[in-house]
Amino acid sequence: PRKIIIDTDPGQDDAVAILLALASPDDLDVLGITAVAGNVPLPLTQKNARIVCELAGKPDTRVFAGCDAPIARKLVTAEHVHGKTGLDGPTLPDPTMPLEEQHAVDFIIDTLRSEPEGTVTLCPLGPLTNIATALTRAPDIANRIQEIVLMGGAYFEVGNITPAAEFNIYVDPEAAKIVFDCGAPITVMTLDVTHKALVTKQRNDAFRALGTPVGIAVAEMTDFFERFDKEKYGSAGAPLHDPCVTAYLIKPELFTGRHINVEIETGSELTLGMTVADWWRVTDRPPNATFMGDIDADGFFALLTDRLARL
Ligand code: BDR
Ligand code: CA
Repeated sequence: PRKIIIDTDPGQDDAVAILLALASPDDLDVLGITAVAGNVPLPLTQKNARIVCELAGKPDTRVFAGCDAPIARKLVTAEHVHGKTGLDGPTLPDPTMPLEEQHAVDFIIDTLRSEPEGTVTLCPLGPLTNIATALTRAPDIANRIQEIVLMGGAYFEVGNITPAAEFNIYVDPEAAKIVFDCGAPITVMTLDVTHKALVTKQRNDAFRALGTPVGIAVAEMTDFFERFDKEKYGSAGAPLHDPCVTAYLIKPELFTGRHINVEIETGSELTLGMTVADWWRVTDRPPNATFMGDIDADGFFALLTDRLARL
């Protein structure tokens, strides 16, 4: 199995991404889960990460708390999407499994240095603060990363937190710039992909029909998560942003995209956090990321439902 670190700000869609990974031990070896401030503040994201591990029946998973604020800005959160707890929807018990004492950034650095070069993949599902802080403190780790597969940014779908920017990049654009410039192979699940991964009524029913605590909790999470996009955009269901990352690691053939240049806007107030993606290759700036644009949504939901059934 491929060794991964999931860096996350749960978040209902983060929760589903984590469940998919923990349900797939033959494909993915989750070395640790590192929490970051994002959808809700850090005390809630680290707690939610542990709630999800216990829901999966995997309380031995190591969960670390990381940065509680972006590198250079005030934290922007998204309770309007995810609810007050960040994981509104199901009623889940408070976690009893411990939080690791080590700081998430130290865990990321130590793991990349101690595992053989090119064998650890980073999976950021929230603002890129932890990853960028690790890269800044320990520049030697960039060459040791197998791949960074992250959820963030957009090209045609442009923005969801501002007209120009996707939430994860917007919250910490300075961190995103450090990550996109770091030289490691980067694969990006954009809004263009995730807005095609919609939990329709039928797909929600399929989760619920699993009849397990996990299946029912996922149905309740996506029920809650759906409200925002449905009211706002008239969307056919909740976009499952973050699970696209873990699904890609299990079945990359579900996704297609382009290896292109992507720059992060950190100056302009109007377009702060925009991923300026050279989709049509109109510059000679060198490609630094594979921007995903399309997904086999039926294949994705079949994989997800099948794997969740194993928990
Ligand atoms: C991203 O922002 C968060 O609200 C979601 O968890 C996802 O990571 C989508 O823009
Ligand atoms: Ca997230």
